[in-house]
Amino acid sequence: MSHEILPRYEIRQSYQWNYDHAPDPIDSDQVSVVGEYQICGLPIESPLAVAAGPLLNGRWVLYYASLGFDVLTYKTVRTEYRDCYPMPNLLPVPDHPLHSSSQSLTAESQMAGSWAISFGMPSKLPDIWQADVEWTRRQLDPQKRLAVSVVATVQPDWTLQEVAKDYARCARWAVDAGADLIEINLSCPNVSTCDGQLYQQPEDARVVAEAVKEAISETPLLAKIGFVPDDTRALALLSELADSVDAMIMVNGISARILDAEGGSCFGGEYRGVGGLAIFDRCVDQVSRFRKLVSEHQFPTEIVGCGGVATADDVLAMLDAGALAVQIATAAMIDPALGLTLRRELNRRRTGCESRNNRSS
Ligand SMILES: Cc1cc2nc3c(=O)[nH]c(=O)nc-3n(C[C@H](O)[C@H](O)[C@H](O)COP(=O)(O)O)c2cc1C
Repeated sequence: MSHEILPRYEIRQSYQWNYDHAPDPIDSDQVSVVGEYQICGLPIESPLAVAAGPLLNGRWVLYYASLGFDVLTYKTVRTEYRDCYPMPNLLPVPDHPLHSSSQSLTAESQMAGSWAISFGMPSKLPDIWQADVEWTRRQLDPQKRLAVSVVATVQPDWTLQEVAKDYARCARWAVDAGADLIEINLSCPNVSTCDGQLYQQPEDARVVAEAVKEAISETPLLAKIGFVPDDTRALALLSELADSVDAMIMVNGISARILDAEGGSCFGGEYRGVGGLAIFDRCVDQVSRFRKLVSEHQFPTEIVGCGGVATADDVLAMLDAGALAVQIATAAMIDPALGLTLRRELNRRRTGCESRNNRSS
């Protein structure tokens, strides 16, 4: 199949429509990537990962696995059913770099490389996603890694311990279903409950991470965080999470207020996370700042880069900044063939030639 006509997430259709219309895997020649890579001690064939988001279910996982990604993250699940926010779920915004986390952006009619993201972390019932994760792990190439992103479904009267317990229960269910890696989402710019900002409360984040670690024992644990503008807060977060978390993923979408062409508020005036090209500079800078702190203080924590990655240069910039692997959401949704292109381009940059593996999936 020509890469130009590869099916992709349809932004004019609902989350449920896209859930139901996952494309079939394609036959592709996955060029092996020069170098040795691992994530939390698990060997991987390339540093290329799909972030939590584009992979709504197991069929989407298998589609992107066939398109050159080696770590596939199952979109965030919960211990109970949660509906998706109303459409639009993805609203194009300008690509120019976001310079603060409280900026206002005017929505655009055409997607270039950035959008505001508004799903609210929907989840199918646990029985459904667990059976799907189990099926997915069985179907997936054994060399590819299946991460499952989890979050708590916070109730108004819950204590922090109850929030932590719900994260832990969800993570345990994901491990029981076959997840190779667990990702706790400590940052969702699109929800107003405390789980959306846990990364800003390092001591609370520690309580959650410890509960999850205890529940999943040997399974590697990654914590996804948002934008951390200063080193004091970064160091506090690293110190609190170092004992329980194997890796930190940065950055989830950066918050902005979105306006329509007439200056009116979109999304009821609430902030939404922006993904894509507009956030790359800030994300790679954060990877580099965290990496420096990890080295200086000898934390065992690995760093996974995320946010605005779209080219081989971006991947290399993230790796040079200290990331061990790189997660991509937006650019891989716009161009589903991106993983295959990146594999070839990374080899060109690194060796000037391509090594071939011809593994089709
Ligand atoms: C369609 C879509 C859905 C997303 N859903 C989730 C989610 O369920 N959980 C999560 O942690 N992040 C979610 N994200 C955020 C991405 O994982 C990622 O952190 C963010 O988009 C920045 O990466 P990017 O610039 O490559 O898109 C979503 C992103 C997109 C585009």
